[in-house]
Amino acid sequence: MESIKEGSTVIAIDKDKNSQYAVKWAVDNLLKKNTSCTLIHVRTKALHHRDVENASKQGRAPTNEELHQFFLPFRGFCARKGAMDLEKFMIVEEQNIEKARLGEEAALALAEVEKQKTKAAIESAEMSRCLAAIEIKKRKQTEKRAMQKEEEKQRASNTNQPDNILCKRYNIKEIEDATNCFDKALKLGEGGYGPVFKGVLDNTVVAIKALRSNITQGDRQFQQEVEVLTTVRHPNMVLLLGACPENGCLVYEFTENGTLEDRLFKKDNTPPLPWNLRFKIAAEIATGLLFLHQTKPEPIVHRDLKPSNILLTKNYVTKIADVGLARLVPPSAADKTTQYHMTATAGTFFYIDPEYQQTGLLGVKSDIYSFGVVLLQIITGKGPMGVARLVEEAIHEGKFEKVLDPNVTDWPVEETLSLARLALMCCEMRKRDRPDLGSVILPELNRLRDLGGVIDTDIVTATRNE
Ligand SMILES: Nc1ncnc2c1ncn2[C@@H]1O[C@H](COP(=O)(O)OP(=O)(O)OP(=O)(O)O)[C@@H](O)[C@H]1O
Ligand SMILES: [Mg+2]
Repeated sequence: MESIKEGSTVIAIDKDKNSQYAVKWAVDNLLKKNTSCTLIHVRTKALHHRDVENASKQGRAPTNEELHQFFLPFRGFCARKGAMDLEKFMIVEEQNIEKARLGEEAALALAEVEKQKTKAAIESAEMSRCLAAIEIKKRKQTEKRAMQKEEEKQRASNTNQPDNILCKRYNIKEIEDATNCFDKALKLGEGGYGPVFKGVLDNTVVAIKALRSNITQGDRQFQQEVEVLTTVRHPNMVLLLGACPENGCLVYEFTENGTLEDRLFKKDNTPPLPWNLRFKIAAEIATGLLFLHQTKPEPIVHRDLKPSNILLTKNYVTKIADVGLARLVPPSAADKTTQYHMTATAGTFFYIDPEYQQTGLLGVKSDIYSFGVVLLQIITGKGPMGVARLVEEAIHEGKFEKVLDPNVTDWPVEETLSLARLALMCCEMRKRDRPDLGSVILPELNRLRDLGGVIDTDIVTATRNE
């Protein structure tokens, strides 16, 4: 910095408006008189004059008097300090300026940092906004998909509503007319799920199973299961002709020769079934059962295979009955049924897979156990209780012939023994010890059936009608 001439007038200037006035004043009043003057940059607030500030605040140019007043303290200051001091003062001021500059730079740097921070924050906010937007879009898509699925489900379930039921749907009036208002005289029997009536629907003789009202009323699952059951069609399965979902009635084809149980026990004095017919029945049960077990995507496990659920048509074609009934009726609902159910359960007990009883694990091999008991009943004509042990012991003691149904006099003992051994294997305690239906049981039963040759069922029927 240049040194200031002695006697020169020092004018403090800053960046403010007052400084502009000061310079103007100095030019007007000092330079015209050839007075030397030095402009120095100051940041000492105290050197500014209030009058000039007032003028600027009032939006007018300061008067000459005010400008004079403005420089009075500065002049006084310079006079008091002298040129040297003034230089010192200026150095100090210069340092102040430098400091301010540095401060300004620091502030600028800080501001820059802040700016960057703000920019980053804005960017981050923008990013978050984008992510949030993506999230919202994703959520909306998921919601849309879920809604579509729900709609599809709804549509699917709607097709299972009574109005859309695939098998013939009967109304209550039709069922009442067919059964003469559930006339006791038309009652064929009663199992665990309700009474069965003989009736005529669409000019066809049918069996109508009236499931207990508390079991199925309004139950959508009932309708869905009925749908499934109508698709399970096989010559050795009783045909489900229709349903009345409102009162839980199932309409089946009627089988003239009743149940295997009734025929084995010669209910109503019917003639005994000949051995070859028994072998044929055995093979046909296995055929129907294999069909059930091969159902896709899931095998159907009958769960209630027993002679009363094996029906015989006019020509003694075997039909497995009550397929899917155990699944159709939830166990909790079945539990609420009357003593009939208790009786039926007690009767069914001896057919239940012991491994299933112990572990609760049901499988196709559970039906094989029941089938083993049925086979033993076919050859012995005995009840299910303890029949396996009886036959096993008889074979062991070489007295097998003694346990064969005495109503048949011409048993082919060797072949029947083969059948008995197979049946006992089916009755093994553990599932894994029971033979396979498709590869072991059915081929053997077919072989035995073929031994029986062509059966003239008319003989049985004729004898029955006598
Ligand atoms: N489709 C049918 N054709 C002819 N008679 C039938 C038919 N369905 C059932 N029956 C008769 O009705 C009776 C009762 O059948 P239901 O199925 O109710 O009892 P269940 O077979 O003894 O026991 P579960 O309830 O365990 O099946 C049978 O014993 C049979 O005489
Ligand atoms: Mg039944």
